Amino acid sequence: MKRVLTYGTYDLLHYGHIRLLKRAKALGDYLIVALSTEAFNDIKNKKTYHSYETRKEMLEAIRYVDLVIPEETWEQKLDDVKNYKVDVVVMGTDWEGSERFEYLKEHCEVVYLPRTEGISTTQIKQDLNLQAPDSKIDQIPEPGAGEGNKKK
Ligand code: CTP
Repeated sequence: MKRVLTYGTYDLLHYGHIRLLKRAKALGDYLIVALSTEAFNDIKNKKTYHSYETRKEMLEAIRYVDLVIPEETWEQKLDDVKNYKVDVVVMGTDWEGSERFEYLKEHCEVVYLPRTEGISTTQIKQDLNLQAPDSKIDQIPEPGAGEGNKKK
């Protein structure tokens, strides 16, 4: 059985994630996703909307994903490769040539897959922020401010 391992945060799931996972799974038979924990995201200065448990639950529901494990440090990768008998580590091309992955080539195959253009969790968060109608927030009445609350 050929085992594939990939890393990521997978916060607001989108089709870029699904396509990456589909292509990663196609490189072998068993796909492991090492999912960044909240503590690790703090180290990376990344704030997630969904908790680790929620992100894990969503990933586990995807047909291409066989196992989700926690990603807690930058240094765990070689241990992951050994412990889970990994044949291929897959990352997006944004990591191409990075020393964080290149050294793994002595222990397994390392494949960088092109990202899907035009979509990212960061982009979704930015776009939704721009669309948030501030005026509607202003329209929500303060507690006790309504006519019905006034004492006669
Ligand atoms: N990915 C991809 N295409 C995209 C976005 C992400 O192939 N358009 C891949 C990344 O290369 C990575 C995996 O999906 O292998 C998880 O990426 P992650 O960083 O969690 O997702 P992003 O949407 O890039 O999140 P952010 O904007 O917070 O970095």
